[in-house]
Amino acid sequence: MGLFNVYQLFDITPVRAQDVFIYDENDVEYLDLYGGHAVISVGHSHPEYVARLSDQLSKIAFYSNSIQNPLQEEMAEKLAKLSGCADYDLFLCNSGAEANENALKVASFATGKHKIIAFKNSFHGRTSAAVAATDNPKIVAPLNAQQEVIFCELGDVAAVQKALETGDVCAIIVETIQGVGGLDEADTSFFHEIYSLSRKHHCLIIADEVQSGFGRTGDFFAFQKHDWTPDLIPIAKGMGNGFPVGGVLIHHDIKASFGMLGTTFGGNHLACAAVNAVLDIIETEQLMQAATDMSAYFLDQIKDIPEIKRVKGRGLMLGLEFDFPIADLRKDLILNHHIFTGNSKNPNLIRILPSLTVQKSHIDTFVDALKTALKTAVQ
Ligand SMILES: Cc1ncc(COP(=O)(O)O)c(C=O)c1O
Repeated sequence: MGLFNVYQLFDITPVRAQDVFIYDENDVEYLDLYGGHAVISVGHSHPEYVARLSDQLSKIAFYSNSIQNPLQEEMAEKLAKLSGCADYDLFLCNSGAEANENALKVASFATGKHKIIAFKNSFHGRTSAAVAATDNPKIVAPLNAQQEVIFCELGDVAAVQKALETGDVCAIIVETIQGVGGLDEADTSFFHEIYSLSRKHHCLIIADEVQSGFGRTGDFFAFQKHDWTPDLIPIAKGMGNGFPVGGVLIHHDIKASFGMLGTTFGGNHLACAAVNAVLDIIETEQLMQAATDMSAYFLDQIKDIPEIKRVKGRGLMLGLEFDFPIADLRKDLILNHHIFTGNSKNPNLIRILPSLTVQKSHIDTFVDALKTALKTAVQ
């Protein structure tokens, strides 16, 4: 049997990793400034994370959601404390797409409506409603295209209003900072205006924090900078530091009923151990503050690089925009300088999404490599 060939792969085979470094089978060291799509939050194989998962594995790894699992309540309490989002309940699942799918379902159940408003350049995952709300027709199968989704320009309040006036809208789904799309972010007034429109038209707002959440921007959630209250907050990626886990924070105004949502694996004991360890490490190592500090240092170090035309994003969710396609530059950084960075839908933009434990010396290594690589970049 072969592998279903859907990924374009670099010819690199990691066999172990530690903090911000990855090592291949020949022990070549790579600096990881991408965290496997923003997943690594507290560092690869953090000793406490490894100890807590190992301990849990030796006790009980899994049982379904038909028994008491106090680790889930422990997670909800820690999440409320660290994020300040005390007015929400938690539903656990296994990935970012599932988190958004469940958030959209809750919005539809709660309102009795079915249309979705999403934004151009969005990415919400690959399950049915989530992928329909993703602005990339290439990954939407005819089966998914049955969902009714209206795509608006990010930041265009009038377009959202017009879409709401068509009626039957259950949810507006928005990434506070677009990840895959290329780090664009609407301004505070946009979030406030669409929130008040959503109240008028009785639909719910979903702030997709799958990529931007869990301290990555220096706030626990990126939306908090804009001071508003989403109805639903899907989370994943940094939540498990590599353990597959997702969830939705659901505002107390929305009432649960037995059987409304469900999952076999979601919230299993191992996943809870991973997330609880991540939350404790973020708190004890003050990684939200570290994200803010390292971001400031990063921005300072790159400010005099003339080829960088624009820097987008916040905290340790950054996009460096050039005026030429970055594919070759990124390849050079990986293959010749042994540094992982990310790409996006914007062909001119490099994404920087390191572990929140990244240090000044790692940033210096990157900046030196970038300067060297730019001298030889195909422009
Ligand atoms: C903002 C956002 N939402 C949802 C997803 C989907 O997450 P997953 O790949 O875990 O299904 C992603 C993945 O990149 C994302 O960036």
